[in-house]
Amino acid sequence: MKKKILVTGGTGYIGSHTVVELQAAGYEVIIVDNLSNSNKDVLDGIEKISGIRPVFYETDCNDKSGLQNIFIEHKGIKGIIHFAASKAVGESVHNPLEYYRNNIVTLLNLLELMPEYHIEGIVFSSSCTVYGQPDILPVTEDAPIKPALSPYGNTKQINEEIIRDAIYAGLPFKSIILRYFNPIGAHPSAEIGELPNGVPQNLVPFVTQTAMGIRQELSVFGDDYDTPDGSCIRDYINVVDLAKAHVIAMNRMLEDKSEDNLEIFNLGTGRGVSVLELISAFEKGTGVKVPYKIVGRREGDIEKVWANPEHANKVLGWTAKETVEDTLITAWNWQNKLRERGIQ
Ligand code: UD1
Repeated sequence: MKKKILVTGGTGYIGSHTVVELQAAGYEVIIVDNLSNSNKDVLDGIEKISGIRPVFYETDCNDKSGLQNIFIEHKGIKGIIHFAASKAVGESVHNPLEYYRNNIVTLLNLLELMPEYHIEGIVFSSSCTVYGQPDILPVTEDAPIKPALSPYGNTKQINEEIIRDAIYAGLPFKSIILRYFNPIGAHPSAEIGELPNGVPQNLVPFVTQTAMGIRQELSVFGDDYDTPDGSCIRDYINVVDLAKAHVIAMNRMLEDKSEDNLEIFNLGTGRGVSVLELISAFEKGTGVKVPYKIVGRREGDIEKVWANPEHANKVLGWTAKETVEDTLITAWNWQNKLRERGIQ
């Protein structure tokens, strides 16, 4: 019998790509999502790729009894991958309480229910934002956690602490915390991808929408940073590569291979790419120009951060395989698919 996994936020960007990889690995997936930042059509995309339509509940993870019903209806869920969260840094500054409720109460609900339903492990979606501006690059998992620059960043730190305290208290489950760098791109089939609500806040959707003519011009936030070309540096990781790491993490917990009940891994490529380099990689890969102008720095931006992914490489046997150039082409193919469908 297939092992059942609950994926919260499974119709979202990283969630949907992970559902596809879980199904390919032989898991039965149950999605719970409140559709606050995604829509049901994503289920069609998942089904087109894998031939399997995952079970779907339109439920908010703040609704504990709603979650409980899912565990009762689907007896024997073995693991959870928890993506469901609000993620806009700027918005979190204006609506902090909403962020604390959405990102913290949801995790508490899941952790409280896990022992009752004998759920063995939870993979948690964290972020390199917990490192702030690291003193040493590339950044390793034992780098100090810096004070958060936004309520969003703070929720990720608090989530990590909650999981750590629960495990140290001896609660009967395991956890793997995955700290993502900057996920970009789309599934190679272009059936699923990133679908931002309104004006994109993240770089790559803004680049593809500008290339498509939806936005007039990309603003590059700052060219006076202490980096070779003056623009900020990030570690952009292919979303399918990232999704695959979740399957490995789940296998590891369910097959009892974890070295500790709590493990933490950076998921990045180990390569830093500047904003200006990313724009030129996009133009080179797609042959499409991206009009841009340099503007002032964006508040709260980190100057440069990229991962040391050796821990994940060695322990999980996982490596990011795709190049930024190829990944940007998948993002462009997805943008074209959205245009064909009349969405954007
Ligand atoms: C941010 C968060 C990260 C979070 C992610 C989710 C921080 C430090 N990082 O990532 O934790 O998981 O959002 O949304 O809080 N840029 C432009 N023009 C644009 C958009 C972006 O120049 O129109 C630049 C930014 O200044 C930055 C880079 O592109 O240097 C990447 O920005 P973005 O895609 O927003 O990701 P982060 O800010 O790195």
